[in-house]
Amino acid sequence: MVPSDEKDNTPESLKALPTDERISPINRLQDTWKHSIERPEEFWEREARQLHWFRSWDTVLDWEDHHATWFKGGTLNASYNCLDRHLDTPVRNKVAFFWEGEPGDKRVYTYQQLYKEVNKFANILKLRGIQKGDAVALYMPMIPELPIAMLACSRIGAPFTQVYSGFSRESLAERMRHLEAKVLVTSDGLWRRGKIVDLKGIADSAVGSCPSIQSVIVVKRTGHDVDMEAGRDLWYHEELASVDSGHVEPAQMKSENILYVLYTSGTTAKPKGVQVSTGGYLTFVTSTLKWSFDVDERDVWWCAADIGWVTGHSYIVFGPLIHGLSSVMYEGAPEYPDPGRVWRMIEDYSVTKFYTSPTLIRHLMKFGDDFPNQYDLSSLSILGTVGEPINPDVWRWYYRVIGKERCPVSDTYWQTETGGFMIAPAPGIELQPLKPGSACHPLPGIDPLIVDEDGQPVEDGVKGYLTIRKPWPGMLMTLYKDDARYQEYYWDRYPGAGQDLFYTGDYAVRDRDGYYWLLGRSDDVLKVTGHRLGTIELEDCLVSHPAVVEAAVVGKKDEIKGEVPVCFVVLKVGHERSQELIDELKQHIRNTIGPIASPSDIYFVPNMPKTRSGKIMRRVIKSLTDGESVGDLTTLEDPDAVNEIIKVVYPKK
Ligand code: WTA
Repeated sequence: MVPSDEKDNTPESLKALPTDERISPINRLQDTWKHSIERPEEFWEREARQLHWFRSWDTVLDWEDHHATWFKGGTLNASYNCLDRHLDTPVRNKVAFFWEGEPGDKRVYTYQQLYKEVNKFANILKLRGIQKGDAVALYMPMIPELPIAMLACSRIGAPFTQVYSGFSRESLAERMRHLEAKVLVTSDGLWRRGKIVDLKGIADSAVGSCPSIQSVIVVKRTGHDVDMEAGRDLWYHEELASVDSGHVEPAQMKSENILYVLYTSGTTAKPKGVQVSTGGYLTFVTSTLKWSFDVDERDVWWCAADIGWVTGHSYIVFGPLIHGLSSVMYEGAPEYPDPGRVWRMIEDYSVTKFYTSPTLIRHLMKFGDDFPNQYDLSSLSILGTVGEPINPDVWRWYYRVIGKERCPVSDTYWQTETGGFMIAPAPGIELQPLKPGSACHPLPGIDPLIVDEDGQPVEDGVKGYLTIRKPWPGMLMTLYKDDARYQEYYWDRYPGAGQDLFYTGDYAVRDRDGYYWLLGRSDDVLKVTGHRLGTIELEDCLVSHPAVVEAAVVGKKDEIKGEVPVCFVVLKVGHERSQELIDELKQHIRNTIGPIASPSDIYFVPNMPKTRSGKIMRRVIKSLTDGESVGDLTTLEDPDAVNEIIKVVYPKK
């Protein structure tokens, strides 16, 4: 059973659903799903044939010690699948990206133009000594050179990591060191809410502690003054002028070769390097994009995410390009210069399918219906969301005001680790009745099981931990250079379960119609504006400040951001509480992790509530900040610590 002190988050709409309104079984989707679960290899083999393979595979799945090797013996290339194979078709002259910068500047790339740019970039990387297997780090804003760089790396077989441009110097340096990247690609800056962010300055301070970096390639975006270190730093546009622009032969990659490593937050201070394969991952993103958004050649697709996160990797770059779609890509803030920006762009480009986060919808919803109502949104046919549970009211607003009650909403549940959608509506297979706030059913090939603490299945209607039973092609291969942590976190959680269960870290409940409801994280991971943040990362950062001896961080519900971090800090003797110290600690977090980790509040307390064995009881602190009952306190070492927290959080009570 899920701990009884956990609040029951079952959505009201689920509890209230009368039996006679329950939804009858869905045939086409159910049949496809059933076949995929009964004969997974036959099923996935057919899906993999959508890609171009230089050599076909010998075995579909090799499953050993929780490591899946999909399509062993097969060879392919990601950039070939995204670009070259369209060149003999009408897609050649079709737009791949309609790009808009925040200030309003525009660029358009056809598939053929993108192919040429990617080859030039691949030539530059080769000149810098990058060969198959060498790692490249990208610290790039949302400009076309980012997908170009990703495709250039994959063309020559160089695993890459894209570090979100909002991350700090420390976060960038840690990732580059872990990956032992040889080249860093960055830009002079980026535009955000009308201001320049000096990316190159941050990159410079990170590169100093990364001996593996030999060259830094800098794309000119904002044009402000930056330092260029002779012998190390190169302007991309200058290299372009001199480099051979010819075709670079795409590397023949084994299906299980690494396409990219994407670092994400987990339950320890160190981010996890999610290691992604080539053949399995590309098969999975291609299939899932078709199922959940029913994409075809007429679509104008807009995934309004940042490529710094997995959503952008899978559904701005690889999935849409493999399908030959035209995509919209946008650099800046969604409400710049006014809250109609996103809706105007949907009208301007006649976007047919729009995919974003609940945070962005909540944010734009607060400006009212007038902004979206000023624009012609009739081109839209499917809407989507990702990253956090969507509240049924927000879902309804999106459906009514943006989709005009014509567009199904694909609420897609997935993770960096899963590579692509796992539980989501599948209008590409069969349009089914939707329930606002539910991600609906597992996609074909995905076999979820909701379990209790011991890994035993719970009944429908009972909240539990979401696990996945079978490997699927998009699944991470392991954690880069840390297989022990991979085994421990994802697979060792339920030793008595009697079967392999992949642990997602999420709570879920399945209702009697078989619909899944995602109920938030069950581990120490927060979702702040849909972005993943480990509470322990924040605690570690606070404790690294000379004034702090102990810290506890919990997530507090927030109407717009979903959750915000709230910090409790015990000061070292000799340090006084002050507003200056609060500001300093906030700045310390921004510098160490990045602005997205900025806490809403920092409270000073004399002691932390701890168990007798000395473990900080975050559960108690979280209940206190959420204004909920704290439950059983008998295991507390010092119950007074609770009163101290109440005093600082609710000073007037
Ligand atoms: C959460 C983002 C509810 C969940 C693609 C998961 C969701 C984490 C949904 C992964 C959804 C993602 N409904 N919760 N539709 N989609 N999540 O790795 O907690 O940044 O474990 O990948 O986001 O976040 P990540």
